[in-house]
Amino acid sequence: MPLRYPTAARGCGAAVERWIFPILSVLFVAVLLLLSGISGFKASTAFLDRRLAATDVRRGPAHLPSFAYYITGGRGDSSRVLRLLLAVYHPRNRYLLHLSADAPASERADLAARAWLSIPAIRAFGNVDVIGKASAMTPMGSSGLAATLQAASLLLRLDDGWDWFVTLSAEDYPLISQDGSPWVILSRSFVEYCVLGWDNLARTLLLYFTNVLSSQEGYFHSLICNSQDFQNMTVNSDLRYTAWDSPPTTEPHFLNMTDYDEMIKSGIPFARQFRQSDAVLDKIDRMILKRRYNKAVPGAWCSSQNRWIDPCSRWDNANIVQPTHRSEKLGKLIRTLLDEWESSTSSCR
Ligand SMILES: *[C@@H]1O[C@H](CO)[C@@H](O)[C@H](O)[C@H]1NC(C)=O
Ligand SMILES: *[C@@H]1O[C@H](CO)[C@@H](O)[C@H](O)[C@H]1NC(C)=O
Repeated sequence: MPLRYPTAARGCGAAVERWIFPILSVLFVAVLLLLSGISGFKASTAFLDRRLAATDVRRGPAHLPSFAYYITGGRGDSSRVLRLLLAVYHPRNRYLLHLSADAPASERADLAARAWLSIPAIRAFGNVDVIGKASAMTPMGSSGLAATLQAASLLLRLDDGWDWFVTLSAEDYPLISQDGSPWVILSRSFVEYCVLGWDNLARTLLLYFTNVLSSQEGYFHSLICNSQDFQNMTVNSDLRYTAWDSPPTTEPHFLNMTDYDEMIKSGIPFARQFRQSDAVLDKIDRMILKRRYNKAVPGAWCSSQNRWIDPCSRWDNANIVQPTHRSEKLGKLIRTLLDEWESSTSSCR
């Protein structure tokens, strides 16, 4: 029933919103009760974390950019989604996790619990949510698109501070830490345009794309290229490293150790697709992200002296970043893309 999608895109945020808070608050209370019950654990710790977060994340035009991440997976993907979350986590950003309808509710609750327990910053900054009422999701169909638009609409309501919207799936992985420079995905104003649709084009295109395959890729591209306001502001790259077999099949091949050097050399901030727990992911964690098992990627915001256990168990200031060698490389890539963009009249051809 394609006619329902535009309304869904505008109205579903509220429905979804009703579902995320119960999960997190029920969990919060349950865990506190459990901890104070077993070991005399001081329930005040969680509130202390919250006070530390009050050191104020500064966002907006005068500050460093902030990203809204929408991370999706299916049944059995909760570990990968959590790993990906930790690999792109930064207190300044906002995260919305989604396991599609084929995953049981218990897996969704488990994901929320593990995210909540794994790093103190997530509890303190309260910037990670799990969608409790999942959408059916087929990667190729319009339901994936509808879910993305719902997520975008929800993120617009949850948080008024982010600048860029990034969608990742469980098969993606970052090749750069969050202390890197900004990369171009979808700007907040474009997301507002898609979701709130201040002219009819957004809705007309949505109707059309609910009827064709692979709608997600085509939708945003067509929309951006047909809109007066955005057509000249588009850089033609999704910033994902992929490798194709020859002859090419419908999906890029699963990246492994063999691809490591090329992947790193590219300077591209994300790569896809990976098999769950592939050894090359451990190598990226070790060599590039410096990320320990079940911990966030350490950045300039992490200030714990106890670097061996978890440098990000304490923080003083979430608003500082320290560019890395990799972020300089990304900067070069972005400049190349911008040069190409300036020299061509439009990337929409
Ligand atoms: C975008 O670029 C095209 C071609 O250069 C130009 O004709 C058009 O007016 C531009 N649109 C806006 C909104 O600046
Ligand atoms: C990596 O994948 C490629 C293509 O799928 C395969 O030819 C190669 O043997 C794999 N390498 C390793 C180390 O698994």
